[in-house]
Formats: sequence, structure tokens, C-alpha cells
Amino acid sequence: MRIPVLFGLSLLFSTTLADDPEYGSARGKLVIIGGGNAGGTGIMEKFISLGGGPSKKFIIVPTANGNRAADGSVQVYNSSQVIAPWLRMGLKKVHMLHTHNPKIADTEDFVKDLRDADAIWFDGGRQWHIVDSYAGTRTYSEFHKLLDRGGTIGGSSAGATIQGEYLVRGDTAGAQIVMTKEANHQKGFAFLRRSAIDQHINTRNRWDDLIPVIAKYPNLLGIGLSEGTAIIVEGDNFQVMGKAKVAVHDNTRKYQAGEKPYYLLSAGDRYNMKTRRKLQ
Ligand SMILES: *[C@@H]1O[C@H](CO)[C@@H](O)[C@H](O)[C@H]1NC(C)=O
Repeated sequence: MRIPVLFGLSLLFSTTLADDPEYGSARGKLVIIGGGNAGGTGIMEKFISLGGGPSKKFIIVPTANGNRAADGSVQVYNSSQVIAPWLRMGLKKVHMLHTHNPKIADTEDFVKDLRDADAIWFDGGRQWHIVDSYAGTRTYSEFHKLLDRGGTIGGSSAGATIQGEYLVRGDTAGAQIVMTKEANHQKGFAFLRRSAIDQHINTRNRWDDLIPVIAKYPNLLGIGLSEGTAIIVEGDNFQVMGKAKVAVHDNTRKYQAGEKPYYLLSAGDRYNMKTRRKLQ
């Protein structure tokens, strides 16, 4: 009896693998914003609607804002202040999720709110704080499980970069260091696999900053996001929303001498990360 069952399973797995996206999640969606003000762009409304609408359960992670104050004391977040802007946007079930301590992040009790969540939002700040709290913990696994069951993850600025596979600007000494030597701050949470994600590229003149990242890790796609600008990811496709440009660092394309090794996309553009082509 065993052999036909195994045979059936292997058939199932081989078809699933062939259809699985290489970049985004098979079922989950991502909203990745380049920092700044997304008001008036429809991006936040899109995030809420992809999460299932205002009656669904949203989890807000403020951790990028820091785990400790300058004097070393543990940073305390006031949950009602963290969720207040989301209540103003009409959400009914919003919970804050935060700890500075990965041992706590690894407990069943800490992750129970994530189990039936529909969407997760990562605030901005410094992306390495998110790594310090959650990398390798049960919480990290639950973030991925939410995508596996068709949930939505969004974030802006540091909350954008954490979604990549390589962690851009992970250095604790400052955000001006694009590629850190700190071994524990080089990996993002890979909600968008095979990617390196940068933000604020227009206001902070970071257009060229992913060039050395893609030179060192040629298997990655570099995505530089302007402020108030987002990519909405479903599977291997994304659509651009918002005010300004997205720089796509695609090293599979031939560039002319003197040309920068990336190209720009604008609001409304749809793009396939696997084929590296704009969709009509
Ligand atoms: C949290 O913030 C709210 C709203 O500003 C305030 O009323 C409340 O006292 C604060 N709670 C704590 C524990 O500081």
C-alpha cells in the first residue's frame, strides 16, 4: 500500500515545485514601501485590502525603532500609541507585537497572536533591530507561515529592507554603510527571495547604492524604492504604486558603456522578476 501513496505524493510535489514562484510567496502578498509619506497614493489602502479588509486581524511590529535606549535600558513601546494610526485608518482588530529578546520571540506564548493573523506590518527604523529580535525564532517561522496560508506582509523603509533576502544597510554603526561586515546582520527575512531591497533612494540619493551589492551577489535582484512608492508583490510579479521611481538592478541585461546597470519603473508598471520583463 505504501508505494502508490509515495508515488502519488512525489507527483504532487514535482508539479507544485515547477509552478512555485522563485521570488515571492506562492500564496502570500507583499507590500514594500520605500519610506516617506505614502498618503494620497492608495498604497496603505491597498495593503489593508490585500490583508482582507478592516475587519481582519493585523499585527504591527514597531521593533525597527529600537530595542534599547541610548543608556542601555530596554525600550518600552506603548501599544495604544503604536496601533493608533491603524485604528484611524479604520482597522478593527490591531495588535502590537514586540520584544527585544529572541528567547521571548521563540516562545509559544509570544507567537500565539500570529497564528490566526491575516496581515503583518513592519514599521521603519533600523532593520537590524528586527533581525536581533526575531531571526531564527518561532516568530520568524510564523511570519513565513502567514505568507504560506495566503496572508499579507507590508512594511516601509527598514520594514521594506527586512523583506529582502540580503539585508541592505544592516550595519549597527550607521545606515550609510550599505554592506555590513557584521556576520549576523547580512540576512534579511527573505519574504521576497533572491532580492536586496533599498529605500529612500530619491531623497537620499541612493540610486547607485545597490550596484556593489549585485556585483558581490550576482544571483540577487536589486530593488531600490523611492519614498511614497511601493511594489505590490504576488508570486514572481510586482506592480509599482506611488509617487516616484523604482530602480531595478538587473544584471541579466546588457548595458551600454557609461550606462548605469539598472533601469527605472514607474507607477502602474507591472514586472516579472523571473523573466526580468515588464508585463503589458
Ligand atoms: C499609552 O499611551 C496612551 C495614549 O497616549 C496613554 O493614555 C497611556 O497612559 C499610555 N500608557 C502607558 C503605560 O504609558
